[in-house]
Amino acid sequence: MREKIIIDTDPGQDDAVAIFLALAAGDRLETLGVCAVAGNVPVVQTTENALRIMDVAGRRAPVYKGAERPLIYALETAEFVCGLDGMDGAGLPGAVSAPETEHAVDFLIRTLRGSDDGSVTLCPLGPLTNIALAMRLAPDIKPKVKRIVLMGGAMNLGNITPAAEFNFYVDPHAAAVVFDAGVPIVMFGLNVTLRAICSHEQIARFAAAGTATGRAISGMLARPRSSSLGSVGHPIHDMCVIAYLLWPELFGGRDCFVQIEMGDGSLRGRSTVDWNNRLKKPANALVIDTIDAESLLNRVIETTSSLS
Ligand code: BDR
Ligand code: CA
Repeated sequence: MREKIIIDTDPGQDDAVAIFLALAAGDRLETLGVCAVAGNVPVVQTTENALRIMDVAGRRAPVYKGAERPLIYALETAEFVCGLDGMDGAGLPGAVSAPETEHAVDFLIRTLRGSDDGSVTLCPLGPLTNIALAMRLAPDIKPKVKRIVLMGGAMNLGNITPAAEFNFYVDPHAAAVVFDAGVPIVMFGLNVTLRAICSHEQIARFAAAGTATGRAISGMLARPRSSSLGSVGHPIHDMCVIAYLLWPELFGGRDCFVQIEMGDGSLRGRSTVDWNNRLKKPANALVIDTIDAESLLNRVIETTSSLS
């Protein structure tokens, strides 16, 4: 039986690779919908980007526009990393398809309410605003969620600040709501995603597939980057989330208590991972810390080659 998933995303080049991978793995993953959220770029653009991704992949899942800004703080975006349209290097035309009219949060609530207990996996790849709003508006949906496998946070690392990873920094209150929800969480933080680096040789193999999707991926990963966020090569953070659903044997981690810093000071958005259980609090996440990056990238190249 295919795993039912909902992707919540702010594409973003690495979000795009994650979505391509989910669509390519349609024999194992049933993507019920793709919810766009404000993050890397404003939500109008992340919605447009989700549609552009569907158009080029030649496979579809319904796309829903979601929250325009974080729960409390003003929106901060990352065009300096992703480019003005959030997908610099993809070379994709404007979307020909259109989003659904229903709001992403309403879609999440409606879909989860109509599902069996423990039957839907949520895959957040951006700020957790949509997911937190859905859980606050309709707490009865929580038992419907099988697990939340997300990209966000870090263990003792930051990218947008020395203390914080971008997704948690942008909406730390939403992250706190989600980590407090009592739903099983698998956390892919920077400590592991910064090791999912695509080499030049692997980037060339994406292009060698000879497909529009392969060209889009290689263009995004090969583009010159103006940011200096401390990584060598091109990390594909968000792709790890979908890869974990397909190939969990490539990853390892530990159940830990994770706390998100919400205050607007220098620690805003920091995720403190109690790796050695100093606080004696129950674990709220499986925190991933090992990855077989080479096998992972090879499998992603092979799987996405089935797209248009
Ligand atoms: C995360 O922030 C975004 O820029 C990426 O898409 C990824 O989700 C990495 O910190
Ligand atoms: Ca993202």
